[in-house]
Amino acid sequence: MFEHLTALPQDPILGLLQLFRNDERASKIDLGVGVYKDAQGNTPVMKAVKQAELRLLEQEQTKSYIGPAGTEGFGRSLAGLLLGDNNPLLDSGRLTIAQTPGGCGALRMAAEFLMLCNRDATVWVSNPTWGNHIPLLGGAGLNIKEYSYYSKTTHGVDFDAMMADLQQARAGDVVLLHGCCHNPSGADLNIEQWQAVTDLILDKGLLPFVDIAYQGLGLRLDEDAAGLRQLAEQVPELVVAASCSKNFGLYRERTGALVILSATESQAKTGASQLFSAIRGHYSMPPSHGAAVVETILTDSALRASWQGELELMTQRILGLREQFVTEMARYDLDFSFIARQQGMFSFLGISPEQVLEMREKHAIYMVDSSRINVAGLSDANIPVVAQALRSVMR
Ligand code: LMR
Repeated sequence: MFEHLTALPQDPILGLLQLFRNDERASKIDLGVGVYKDAQGNTPVMKAVKQAELRLLEQEQTKSYIGPAGTEGFGRSLAGLLLGDNNPLLDSGRLTIAQTPGGCGALRMAAEFLMLCNRDATVWVSNPTWGNHIPLLGGAGLNIKEYSYYSKTTHGVDFDAMMADLQQARAGDVVLLHGCCHNPSGADLNIEQWQAVTDLILDKGLLPFVDIAYQGLGLRLDEDAAGLRQLAEQVPELVVAASCSKNFGLYRERTGALVILSATESQAKTGASQLFSAIRGHYSMPPSHGAAVVETILTDSALRASWQGELELMTQRILGLREQFVTEMARYDLDFSFIARQQGMFSFLGISPEQVLEMREKHAIYMVDSSRINVAGLSDANIPVVAQALRSVMR
């Protein structure tokens, strides 16, 4: 029966990994998949992660099952990172937290949970959004609609168009927001815009769903979660999918969390029973290692300070690269100043798919077809090369 299957194209983001590996040109530059890179182009294990791993290696007592929710310590500390360690919601009994296999696991289980709540709900996603959002959410059976988000003219958020589109959402619909560092555009809502979206959500009876995969990589940990925290204070119900891939550099360990805020403690208990049963039916329980590392770091003040310091350096590096790239393009009289106004790992260069192909084929510079670049893939050494190639394809 396998003969009935038809082959699918490669994933537009992950497919680039293979293409890049196969390219034999020594000069090749990878601005594709969203992983942090240092000045040498490496994606190192963070120091606090290494130390936590050493500690776990010595102290871990068992590899026995952890259950569908994962560990309480991880859930509590990650929810604290997201919502603020002193947030009263942490002790309200209204939170259901699941340790998940990466942010993807959180998104997919959120979608399964939403299907159990309301099969007819439509999830509104930004246009554009991360390439895996629609497969992950739509694959669970949810209806998807897009709201306008990115303006190719201003290179910022087209907020009026966004609000106008969300006015069309019906009570019970779900609005997916990027917590910070919008992927793929790098254009984020400011705090007043978060408030306006919160008001609209409350007004229309919508359910906010925040995907936060880059906390700490925009500006700083607290600032990057400010919109989410402001929203969480005001809404009765909320879904948050978080990833530790980027801010802890735990990509391959698949570490994330799904946090669901219910209106009452009793609804949270019922919701938890449904969610954990759904998890049991999908992958039974999450992997342990990455979450144990995160818990170790977040609950030890010295490790936490080391991790936060290293994360801040990474973020400063990305912000610096943004400035440097703008300056380099200005040498060719090309205005890319918007890149320095955006945040996080990604920005669009704004070139056509044909120009993206030319960048790849002629110049060995890899980026997603949409012209999304991973800013962290830039470096002092390659910025002049990228800038020159970009100028040449833009001619
Ligand atoms: C990206 O957007 O490049 C990352 O989130 C990696 C992925 O899984 O797509």
